[in-house]
Amino acid sequence: MNYIGSKFSLLSFLETHITQFSTPDSGWTFFDIFSGTGVVGRHFKKLGFHIVANDIQYYSYCLNRAYIGINCQPGFIGIVEHLPQPAGLSQYDAVDVVLDYLNRLTGVEGFIYRNYCPGGTAGKDFPRQYFTDENGKLCDAIRLQTEDWHRDAFISDDEYFYLLASLIEAMDKVANTASVYGAFLKHVKPSARKPLRLERLEIIPDNRLHRVYNCDGGELASKVQCDILYIDPPYNQRQYCTNYHVLETIAKYDHPQLYGITGLRDYRHQKSDFCNSAKALQSLERLIRETSAKYVFLSYNSEGLMREDEIIRMMSQYGVVDLRKEDYRRFRADIDRENRRYRADSVTEYLFCLKKAR
Ligand SMILES: C[S@@+](CC[C@H](N)C(=O)[O-])C[C@H]1O[C@@H](n2cnc3c(N)ncnc32)[C@H](O)[C@@H]1O
Repeated sequence: MNYIGSKFSLLSFLETHITQFSTPDSGWTFFDIFSGTGVVGRHFKKLGFHIVANDIQYYSYCLNRAYIGINCQPGFIGIVEHLPQPAGLSQYDAVDVVLDYLNRLTGVEGFIYRNYCPGGTAGKDFPRQYFTDENGKLCDAIRLQTEDWHRDAFISDDEYFYLLASLIEAMDKVANTASVYGAFLKHVKPSARKPLRLERLEIIPDNRLHRVYNCDGGELASKVQCDILYIDPPYNQRQYCTNYHVLETIAKYDHPQLYGITGLRDYRHQKSDFCNSAKALQSLERLIRETSAKYVFLSYNSEGLMREDEIIRMMSQYGVVDLRKEDYRRFRADIDRENRRYRADSVTEYLFCLKKAR
């Protein structure tokens, strides 16, 4: 998923530096407290760490609950025998049967269609074009079917979050936006015209229990026992709750009151202090002070709200600090219209490494 601040392209940089302090076979717990898409947790899960993931956004929780929390492809034993087997499948595969069934559902004029599609919003105060009518209706049908199966205990929690994560990924691929959901495009771009299609998730086989939370990181830091705390907070004023509000509503499907041209939901309880220059440093300090971790790693960059020298000064009160740097080409999501004020298309990425004094 194309996500602001995603560490997808920086995984080897993170692995190189973080594993200098701990090897995966140590049995250590790696706490990804601002997990976003979950790519960092997935990478360190593959390496053999025990993962705890957290994010304040519910769509992120769904992604992490699936990619981190699930250790094998689900069997869907409560429903698969009642569904038609897709033609052309040589081997019986429960995931493919379920996804094929959902991909073929008849669309429903539900909340997403009525609020984020041209057909559903035509003639209203705020016509919107985040998805084609067909994709919006199919999203509603899939979301409602998934909820019914889960409510009636036909699918387990793992299976429910597997389907929600697949739907979130699939909807993001057909979203008619430049990159984030702060605005939709006036014309329908080619990728948004493609039909919505749920796909299998890449699940990392494992036999250990990994945990996933949907909390404010500031409230959770002191409660999670871990060896490594990995902090990848927002870098600037752009709140994730407003930039990804449509994914949040697809994930929660809670029929919120919507506001304005873009159909924002109420996000006051999800605003991050890391997007506020007056609060970011003290919020970071709270995480570092309260964590039980032996090592703290902070991803940040040269254009963030907190300055390199003030981060080092604050961290040095808690132990020995080391700073690793890498030049990094921006992601498409980071050079959209909102960010034209950025002059460079590359930026220096930081990894602050703190060995906490005991
Ligand atoms: C830079 S992104 C993380 C990107 C992630 N490492 C990845 O590669 O996908 C920052 C994340 O912090 C989350 N966030 C912001 N404030 C938070 C808070 N107070 N508690 C928990 N999560 C928060 C946002 O929702 C967002 O997903």
